[in-house]
Amino acid sequence: MNNFFEQLICPKTKTKLVLSADGKTLSNTSTDEPLSYDVNEIVDLVYPKELFEQDRKEQVAYNDAYLRYDRGVSWVFESLRANEAATRKQMISLLKLKPGMKVLEVGAGTGKDSALIVDKITPGGHAVLSDLSPAMLGYAKQKFSDKKDVKIDYFIGNGSYLPFEDNTFDALFHFGGINTFAERAKAFEEFARVVKVGGRIVVGDESTAPWLRDQKTYQILMDANPMFADTIPLEDLPKNVKDVKVEWIFGNAFYVLSFRKMKKAPTVNVNLQIPNKDFKDNWRLRAEKNRKKK
Ligand SMILES: C[S@@+](CC[C@H](N)C(=O)[O-])C[C@H]1O[C@@H](n2cnc3c(N)ncnc32)[C@H](O)[C@@H]1O
Repeated sequence: MNNFFEQLICPKTKTKLVLSADGKTLSNTSTDEPLSYDVNEIVDLVYPKELFEQDRKEQVAYNDAYLRYDRGVSWVFESLRANEAATRKQMISLLKLKPGMKVLEVGAGTGKDSALIVDKITPGGHAVLSDLSPAMLGYAKQKFSDKKDVKIDYFIGNGSYLPFEDNTFDALFHFGGINTFAERAKAFEEFARVVKVGGRIVVGDESTAPWLRDQKTYQILMDANPMFADTIPLEDLPKNVKDVKVEWIFGNAFYVLSFRKMKKAPTVNVNLQIPNKDFKDNWRLRAEKNRKKK
């Protein structure tokens, strides 16, 4: 059995996957919700089988665009007066990768950032590249056929349902798709779930910097593609994260968000005595007083 398959679990039920005797399907071991996945050239672990309309549209669009994509995306960055190669390198540097690390890329597309990830974790690393579009990922796979001293695995999947146990990866990267994910908060939850405690997660997509939104050329950009007016999905971050940083990149029309997984959500000390005259006051007592006043 392919060693990679042994690491996979059902993206929905999170139960073990078992390969059929003919090697053509992986099935979960759930009696409540039995599910099977096709093992093609690249294993197809997409869930839900019937995608939300928004995700299905993206899948269809990228399946159609995979040959035009590399040129098209470079044109976008050129129009933003950005240096694509340098900016992608800067985003990957936020992951603080080292040789030997195990990294998951969600929405890897044609592999533009995957190449940088793979280089950073060589020798001895393991990159798992995934995308909702079989055509995009198939194209990426061709680009890495000659890579040595590093393990690269692929699966077709929805970023909101990841087929891995908790705490599997040293780091996770996603760029360019999150704004349109139908279940975006769930995707962030999954990103944090599969990364080890302390591991880094880096996510980016369109969002014009707030202080530039009344500028003429940025207004034209946002009218031409309303995704440039999207806001940064900070409210979707899981509670158990720290070191959250946001930066505007690619001509201030995209954001990159980086954070680390914590074991538990943080809390603050609301019982600490306030050092006033009698030391009898604290945040909790003040909150109670304010609530009573309302
Ligand atoms: C703009 S492309 C970015 C590709 C690549 N990361 C890059 O920077 O060139 C967005 C990618 O996200 C993928 N995608 C969209 N929705 C997804 C989802 N729900 N789960 C996983 N991938 C998704 C698309 O198929 C597409 O390949």
